[in-house]
Order: sequence, then C-alpha cells, then structure tokens
Amino acid sequence: MGIVLGIESSCDETAAALVTTGREIVAQRIASQDEEHAPYGGVVPEIAARAHAEKLAPMIEAVLADGSVELRDLDAIAATAGPGLIGGVMVGLVSAKALAMASEVPLIAVNHLEGHALSPRLADPELEFPYALLLVSGGHCQILRVEGVGKYTRLSTTIDDALGEAFDKTAKILGLGFPGGPAVEKLALEGNAKAVPLPRPLLGSDEPHFSFAGLKSAVLRAKERQSQSVRPEPVEGQGESPGKRASTSSARTVSGYSDADIAASFQQAALDCVLDRLRVSLDTMEPVPALVVAGGVAANKAIRAALEGFASERGLRFVAPPMALCTDNAAMIAWAGCERLGMNEFRADPLDIAARPRWPLDPDAEPVRGAGYKA
Ligand SMILES: Nc1ncnc2c1ncn2[C@@H]1O[C@H](COP(=O)(O)OP(=O)(O)OP(=O)(O)O)[C@@H](O)[C@H]1O
Ligand SMILES: [Mg+2]
Repeated sequence: MGIVLGIESSCDETAAALVTTGREIVAQRIASQDEEHAPYGGVVPEIAARAHAEKLAPMIEAVLADGSVELRDLDAIAATAGPGLIGGVMVGLVSAKALAMASEVPLIAVNHLEGHALSPRLADPELEFPYALLLVSGGHCQILRVEGVGKYTRLSTTIDDALGEAFDKTAKILGLGFPGGPAVEKLALEGNAKAVPLPRPLLGSDEPHFSFAGLKSAVLRAKERQSQSVRPEPVEGQGESPGKRASTSSARTVSGYSDADIAASFQQAALDCVLDRLRVSLDTMEPVPALVVAGGVAANKAIRAALEGFASERGLRFVAPPMALCTDNAAMIAWAGCERLGMNEFRADPLDIAARPRWPLDPDAEPVRGAGYKA
C-alpha cells in the first residue's frame, strides 16, 4: 500500500494531508484565510499567496508529525499545479518540488479540478468509472462524463458565472459576508422559495450549458426594490427619517418579501437550472450508472437532496462526498495522486513542470463563449 502527501493552495485554503492508496486519510490539516479576505468581500490573490507562503511549510511538518511519517517514507508528493490563483499555486507546487527533490520522492502535479472530480471515489470504494459528474465550485460549473483517471468528456460549462460565484454574489448583495454559499443556504431555510419571481437562465435550451449572470442581476434588482419599499412610516409629529431602514433579514417588509425569501428564491432558481441542464446533458451522454456531485457547492444540503431525488427518478446511483471533501482540501489532492500511482503506466512529473492558471479537464472540449469565458 502506498502513502501520498497532498498539498492544496490554489485559492484561499492552505491544506496538507496524508492519504493511503487504501483510502485511509492518515492525517490532514487545513487553514482557511476567511479572516484575511473578509474585509474585501472576496479573495485577494496577493494576500492569498502571502498567507500560503507563511502557513504551508509548518503545516506540512505538522501533518507528517501527526501521521508519524518521514518524508522518505512517502510514495509520492502530490500538489495542485492549477487551475487557480497563480501566486498560491506556485507556493504549493514549488514547495512540493523542493521536498520531492530533497527526499527523492516522485512528484505528482495534480489538476485541482481532477482532485474534486475523483474525491467521491476516496470516500466510496464502490464508485467505479464511468460516472456523470456535476462539478460545482467557486470557479467552475460543469457536467462531465468521467471515464477514468485523466479521461474526461465535458458536456456542459457556464457561459458566465460559476454556481458558487452566484452564491457568493447573492450573499454579498444580501450583506451576508464571505464566503457566501453556506450563509445563503442557512438564510434560505427561513424563506419562501416562491416569494420572489426570478429568472431561470437557459432553462429549456437544447444546449446543456449554464448561465447565472442574469439570475445574479435579478437578485440585485429584487434587493433594490425591497430597500426602496421599506421606508418607515413617519412617526406623528417627528417627520420622516429617510436614512432609516427597517431590518429586512427575516421580517417581511412592505415589498412583500424578506432577505430570507430572496435567498430561498435564488437557491430554488439555481436548483431548477441545475436539474434542467443535467437532464439535457444526461440525455446526450453515453449512459452511466451513477450521478456524482463534487466541488464546494456540493456541500449544499438542498442541492444534494434535489440531486438525490433526480438521480433516483432516472434510476442512477447518487454519490456525494462527505462535506469536508467538497470544498477545497488536500485529501482530495493526495487521493488524485494515489489514483495516478495506481495506474499501470505511472510516470512521475518532471521537476520543471509549470504551474497553470488555466487547466481544463477536457482539453478537447469546444470553448463556449458568452458574456464571460470559462474553459
Ligand atoms: N453550503 C453551500 N451552499 C452553496 N454554496 C456553497 C456552500 N458551501 C460552499 N459553497 C460555495 O463553494 C465555493 C467554494 O468551493 P471550492 O472551494 O470548491 O471552490 P474554489 O476552489 O474556489 O473553485 P474551483 O474549485 O473552481 O477552483 C464558494 O463559491 C462557496 O460559496
Ligand atoms: Mg476548489
């Protein structure tokens, strides 16, 4: 049995983990940078890279100590080599190269998206290739047919925003802070999903692609309409106080809906789009026995439940990784390394391999152009 050190630093989580080819997570640590980025309402690449540079080396040392493993005992060192914020990716990849060189352990440069795509197989030994994958994260929204390690056919992607990005922007509009996905999900539990009419972009289109920019703009307009209509009644004798606004987090306002209603309506609209796009993709895909969801948005319980129902209607097995494996983590990177190690023709990556800001899982997929461009 082999053991792999995984390193993740492509966005705002610094993480290291030890995983065996027998699917045991021997040790793992993760440090989020939420506090560093919170004042800016999003990830600042320069701050992220500096934080990775400070946190990563001691974290690797601690993970090796947690697992009582020496560098020379490792069968490989796997690090995210892209796609992601290039400064952070370089910190992780260069650290992995230095350790690999010093200990003469093979280096494996991992595509971060492949980490997400294979993460369900770490938790579920029965999940075999091929499977349909809904990859929904902060930077990506894709439907792929996963045929094997390194073998992906992309059927669908977003022409503008990723789903996680739409959650984060909705959270920002509602003043929920960063990161937004979990906060929107929580607030949505208190709201009525039918209260605010919102568009379902591309619903019913024959092309299986996603679009969330129009939905996000509609959320912004709904919030503006709500704020315009919550002028407090003037108190007799005191005149109107125009600067004052009623609290709108869960209380209904004269506009007829609360922030919780906006959150719930947004989540439902996004979900309707996801199920519709999945339907079109699965109808055109060579049949598979399982539907798998991965990426940060896979942590959303409402989305997981709806996907489970959808899969069972279509006679598909549904697999979602445990919550901790959905958002960025190093166990999934170490596991992608284990999967590579297990291949017949395993070859380590050279020490001069480059970090890549963009790295599509399916390089042959036609680029899709819309308001934005996502590989
Ligand atoms: N419970 C949740 N509901 C909805 N969205 C969520 C939830 N939890 C996390 N997210 C979203 O998931 C995203 C983070 O996921 P992840 O860490 O996989 O993305 P990323 O690494 O930034 O992007 P990528 O993997 O595409 O490079 C954020 O956009 C976050 O808002
Ligand atoms: Mg990610």
